[in-house]
Amino acid sequence: MYVCLCKGITDSQLRDAIANGGNEFKQLKQQLAVGSQCGKCVPVAMAILAEENAKACLYYEVA
Ligand code: FES
Repeated sequence: MYVCLCKGITDSQLRDAIANGGNEFKQLKQQLAVGSQCGKCVPVAMAILAEENAKACLYYEVA
């Protein structure tokens, strides 16, 4: 699904970038230019980022 129509960025591209260390929005913006034009995609991109970061937290061991 397209998240950013201005830059043609899909949710898969975002998830791949997050998996490769882009766990902050500013990194995704630098890497993919998401949200760099009209900015309407920012809430959806932030939601995907939060979802992926939450998934990553599920794998931490509880001491
Ligand atoms: S839709 Fe992403 S900057 Fe416009």
